[in-house]
Amino acid sequence: MTSAFKHSLKLDLPVYPFADLERKASAIRKSGKTLYNLSIGDPDLEPPDFVVDAVKNALDDPKSHFYPSCRGDMEVRKSVARWFKGRFGVSIDPETQVCLTIGCKEALSQIAKAVVDPGDIVAVPEPSYPVYGRAGCKFVDGKCLTLPLTAENNFLPDLSSISNSNIKLLYLNYPNNPTGAEAPETFLKELGKFVDKNPELTLAYDMAYSEMYFGYPPHSILEFTPNAIEFHSLSKMASATGYRIGFAVGEPSLIAAFIKVKEEIDSGAPYPFQKALSAMLDAYEGIIAPEQLIAYRSIYQARKSSLIASLEKQGISVYHSNATFYLWFFIGGDEMPFINKALQEGLLLTPGSGFGKSGKGWVRASVTAPDVDIEAAANIIAKLDV
Ligand SMILES: Cc1ncc(COP(=O)(O)O)c(C=O)c1O
Repeated sequence: MTSAFKHSLKLDLPVYPFADLERKASAIRKSGKTLYNLSIGDPDLEPPDFVVDAVKNALDDPKSHFYPSCRGDMEVRKSVARWFKGRFGVSIDPETQVCLTIGCKEALSQIAKAVVDPGDIVAVPEPSYPVYGRAGCKFVDGKCLTLPLTAENNFLPDLSSISNSNIKLLYLNYPNNPTGAEAPETFLKELGKFVDKNPELTLAYDMAYSEMYFGYPPHSILEFTPNAIEFHSLSKMASATGYRIGFAVGEPSLIAAFIKVKEEIDSGAPYPFQKALSAMLDAYEGIIAPEQLIAYRSIYQARKSSLIASLEKQGISVYHSNATFYLWFFIGGDEMPFINKALQEGLLLTPGSGFGKSGKGWVRASVTAPDVDIEAAANIIAKLDV
């Protein structure tokens, strides 16, 4: 019998880019073969004990079994504001400029509901995290304007090419997934001016990887303009993707509009995980991260270096970056035969074209797996005919 269920036209999206690969991977796992998974940015390292303890302790607090406040507990928002001042030197008002979120992903999609009307232009970098172009544009009936990011321009968009584009919502993300690229100060100054000159435009600046760096600490866009909304997350900062907690900070009227959307849809992030966020942020001393995060950065950096060395030995061109736990390398042509061959050998990597057409020929490897797996992955790639 055919189901009478008819889904919304908004769901007429191509299959989520990585779903097909995940299906093939699960068939390999079922066959009993070992699968090394470098395809997902889900840290293998444990969250710091004091972050886990913050969750456990909060469960004994009666606050935890009531509905949380939608914008987040005031004390936690104060932690956000204190951290922001120490980390970026920017003062924000915890009352009007902070909203806690259920991780960055939902927040990045909700901001579109707050600012985009049907037919409005949403500018989406490419390659990029798929949420911007799908939930952030198609779900709100926006018109997508693609901003190609290429190795030649260090994966930064050409702002002069969009100066007359009437953009309503512009998504940008640095440090960048999938490329690992960072936004230099010169670019951020230019971006700040661009935003100030275009008051109709909302810049949604995604800093999910703000703390995953090995060189200079990444800047917040709020150091260059107050007219933006920026998204942060505990996920990668504390190896706590399962805690689903993050925050939005920015221009008060944007935060107010964002909260208005969220009040219609969710009832806030669970209090114990708000407390986990607070514990992590409070453990910073100014710009200095807690010990464990500093140690984790070194681990990711060493894993990246060792994988880069083996790829380059094979003549593969790798984009060198000082941030994120992703490695972005160029195979050329269509990367899918390489991805499929690697999968047959037990290695799951992410095809660049899953992040948009401009990702064609590129491959992303996430070093969020134990060192032995990274070594095994390097050995598998060495055996492939590239
Ligand atoms: C660029 C980017 N933004 C946001 C997110 C979502 O992070 P969260 O776990 O906070 O939802 C991810 C997750 O991988 C990401 O890569």
